[in-house]
Amino acid sequence: MNILVTGGTGYIGSHTCVSLLEAGHSVVIADNLSNSRKETVNKIKEITNRDVLFHEIDVSNKDQVKKLFSNNKFDGVIHFAGYKAVGESLDLPISYYSNNLFSTIFLAEACINYGVRRFVFSSSATVYGDNQAPFKETMKLLPTTNPYGSTKEMSERILTDVAKANSSFSVSILRYFNPIGAHQSGLIGEIPKGHPNNLMPYITNVAKGKFDKLFVFGNDYSTLDGTGVRDYIHVMDLAEGHVKALESIDSGVEVFNLGTGQGTSVLQLLKAFEQANGLEIPYEIVERRPGDIATCFADTTKAEKHLCWKAKRGIFEMCRDAWRFETQYTD
Ligand code: NAD
Ligand code: UD1
Repeated sequence: MNILVTGGTGYIGSHTCVSLLEAGHSVVIADNLSNSRKETVNKIKEITNRDVLFHEIDVSNKDQVKKLFSNNKFDGVIHFAGYKAVGESLDLPISYYSNNLFSTIFLAEACINYGVRRFVFSSSATVYGDNQAPFKETMKLLPTTNPYGSTKEMSERILTDVAKANSSFSVSILRYFNPIGAHQSGLIGEIPKGHPNNLMPYITNVAKGKFDKLFVFGNDYSTLDGTGVRDYIHVMDLAEGHVKALESIDSGVEVFNLGTGQGTSVLQLLKAFEQANGLEIPYEIVERRPGDIATCFADTTKAEKHLCWKAKRGIFEMCRDAWRFETQYTD
């Protein structure tokens, strides 16, 4: 299949391009490089030894989307493009709503106008809010506390309504848990801009000596060691889940959790990183971060059954690959 990958030079998008190409599909990337670099296209080509088309365009711009679809014939779209920083979304709600919602609307509209049936959407476990883990696709979604989370919940609703009204348009909504790690080559990985907010990029920055220590946000949660528990998933497992989701799209809308089903605490991840890489990471326990929940992990039964997909890489591999990329990457 010839697949349009929006946000394909970004963190998850670039790894998914590798998996798509390795599965024999062709890839056209559309990215405005607002949070990524053009060199990533060459890295994807280097890893896969395949050609990739790249268009530097804004997919929240209707005319640019229309032009892209009129000049290419796509069999499917994987829509990663969007803004993703929770804290920033509280300061810049208009940017977040317009970028994340217009892109979804214009891409869905173009799919209908140009007869593209398969659409895969990047959603997030954030839509489950403070439900009781493990999170199941059938759970009632709880209101999110920030505009970023709201754009995911609204995009899911928009795509569901569009698919209901157009039988020729089918959607796979993927709710990601916490992707970390990098491609084993060390050529592509996560390049966070500015101050990192997520745990793994913060740990790698401490390991690099950019920061003195990690601040652990709270040790009084009701978890095994009092620190927050999350479902960390290797980004290559996540990438492979996208290929399965795309290939298995049939009709209507299906929602899938992409996680490992395993919870890991902040201190467990820290220890795993130290052991996997032979490093020591100083840390200090501080106050809880507002808006954080205690425990978040997936029920992965549906993806295992319907997509024949299961995450296979463990926490040590995630830590080793994240650090390999960080040590190889130069600005
Ligand atoms: P990323 O920022 O690395 O990648 C997003 C890409 O989209 C970037 O390359 C950026 O330049 C591009 N982009 C943004 N707006 C655009 C626009 N209007 N037109 C064209 N390109 C645009 O982020 P990521 O971590 O790879 O996340 C990909 C998707 O997955 C996002 O939708 C994100 O919300 C979602 N998601 C990410 C996580 C996570 O932990 N990384 C978790 C859940 C969901
Ligand atoms: C964050 C986002 C969430 C998004 C998810 C995946 C916030 C508030 N939430 O959630 O919307 O879907 O990433 O991208 O940003 N931690 C520390 N010290 C740090 C950083 C994190 O102790 O410096 C802890 C957190 O309290 C949490 C765990 O590490 O318990 C993971 O944090 P993080 O990587 O930010 O992911 P989420 O909180 O799951």
